[in-house]
Amino acid sequence: MATLTETKIGVAQDAFPIKGTDHIEFYVGNAKQAAHYYQSAFGFELVAYAGPETGLRDRASYVLQQGKIRLVLTSALGPESDIAQHVHLHGDGVKVLALWVDDAKYAYYTALERGAKSAALPQTLEDEYGMVTTASIHTYGDTWHTFVERHNYRGPFMPGYRPRRSEMEVQPIGLKYVDHCVGNVELGMMNHWVQFYQEVMGFNLLVTFDDKDISTEYTALMSKVVSNGNGYIKFPINEPAQGKKKSQIEEYLDFYRGAGVQHIAVATDNILYTVSELRRRGVEFLYVPDTYYDTVPERVGHIKENLEDLRRLNILVDRDEEGYLLQIFTKPVQDRPTVFYEIIQRQGARSFGKGNFKALFESIEREQALRGTL
Ligand code: FE2
Repeated sequence: MATLTETKIGVAQDAFPIKGTDHIEFYVGNAKQAAHYYQSAFGFELVAYAGPETGLRDRASYVLQQGKIRLVLTSALGPESDIAQHVHLHGDGVKVLALWVDDAKYAYYTALERGAKSAALPQTLEDEYGMVTTASIHTYGDTWHTFVERHNYRGPFMPGYRPRRSEMEVQPIGLKYVDHCVGNVELGMMNHWVQFYQEVMGFNLLVTFDDKDISTEYTALMSKVVSNGNGYIKFPINEPAQGKKKSQIEEYLDFYRGAGVQHIAVATDNILYTVSELRRRGVEFLYVPDTYYDTVPERVGHIKENLEDLRRLNILVDRDEEGYLLQIFTKPVQDRPTVFYEIIQRQGARSFGKGNFKALFESIEREQALRGTL
């Protein structure tokens, strides 16, 4: 019987062109303080704001940018809003993975025709900087995809937002763009959501990892990666697999109360600098034991970076047919063990660090054990 392991399958048939990730919006308990964290720890610049001072009654949103990465942090101003409900249920988490498209209406109606569920009707917003059209569909859990069409918009983010600069001096850390965004879905639902991206968006199935690829002695998960035609959008989808102990995906689903975004991988050209800055600023990372580095030279061969630097910063490395990659994972960035970040530097490799899965999952198991959720 054929198993699909790391085979590249299918040919791109985009339902509509996607130019990249437009922004990622989090619903959080306290956007003002979250914005401070992303500025001081991650080196994002505050570029725009919307809230009571701009005429909004129910929310405040801070827009942060570094390289091509744009984060929107939104909080409710009262208990009755959907934002407050979302935070009550899920804790701080990703509400919107927004996709930059040429034609938001076309993308939206095409997606609906192909089976998507509407989340927000198309609307065109206008201010002195120009026009932006948006429309949203549902994906896994309470997460949305918003299609954003920018009509050469010249403002800092979108009509309704005012330009706003950081009050503090911000030092960027070299983050460039969103490499991939990973979703965790319920047991048995991975194929459903892979099919959703294939049928609704015309994405390709890029890679399949089964529970033999992604397991330790105790826990397991399964993952499939879907991607759009130009490869700018990559969405791995994980589901828990049977193991002796509780999978990290199950732990996520328990604490997030359902499916949602597990991690956002952000790319850098200089991971040594990026990670040393993040560490200096107090960001916590998963720990892999020193012995991990003993086998790196034989496993990955020659790399430009000094192995001692990687060991000191606890950065992981993996190689595929096309090159190598360097990566590291933060601990969850809120108290619930849900959303975290991956920092990744690609040196030719287009894969996801399969050679590091075992070390990584053992590291997560140690964290789960501390939380009493293994
Ligand atoms: Fe990743």
